[in-house]
Amino acid sequence: MTDLPAGRFITLEGGEGAGKSTQIARLKDKLERLGHAVVATREPGGAPGAEMVRKLLVEGPAERWDGTTEALLHFAARRDHLRSTVWPALKRGAWVISDRFADSTIAYQGYGYGVDRRMLDKLYGIAVGDFRPDLTLILDLPVETGLGRAAARRGSETRYESLAVDFHGRVRAGFLEIATADPGRCIVIDATRDIEAVAAAIAAAVRVRLGA
Ligand code: TMP
Repeated sequence: MTDLPAGRFITLEGGEGAGKSTQIARLKDKLERLGHAVVATREPGGAPGAEMVRKLLVEGPAERWDGTTEALLHFAARRDHLRSTVWPALKRGAWVISDRFADSTIAYQGYGYGVDRRMLDKLYGIAVGDFRPDLTLILDLPVETGLGRAAARRGSETRYESLAVDFHGRVRAGFLEIATADPGRCIVIDATRDIEAVAAAIAAAVRVRLGA
């Protein structure tokens, strides 16, 4: 994308069962009450083609893909999502809130599966270019708590949840390292608290960082 976006791009990240969907609905409501046009979207998915790729990624046995193949699929879905949904919405002046973005690839495929970080950064450059989120909120909670919550709403999308607890431990540590390395963009939110407290922390972060 060559033009500067008129809207803002906010991403929510975190492990399984962190409560991202609930918090995105709350944040969307809040921003709309402030008069912003808001598009809530998700990855993998968020556009018709990307949703087709999502099915390949989140269903079936864990050993279906290796980490590199997964990274390629996530970046293919991401590019379609950006071109079809995110960039047009930002151009219209909307605020876009995405349930997961590229930090999930660094955390899951990079820290989780051990895919080389330089390769992931290269793929980012190819699929996304220089575009970055304006703000990334990382919802952090212990792995067991998150997996317990996720199991309660389990449908057919069990592929990632079925991976070992130590995989999810590496993912959690990965997100925290990403936040430490990029404090201008990322804020870690303690997601063990109740819905109201987490929503208040997110609203405060958006106000301080983006003035909304
Ligand atoms: P969700 O459960 O938050 O909808 O996400 C679907 C799964 O996809 C989740 O287990 C995390 C995983 N994922 C990756 O492994 N890499 C990525 O780049 C993204 C966006 C998601």
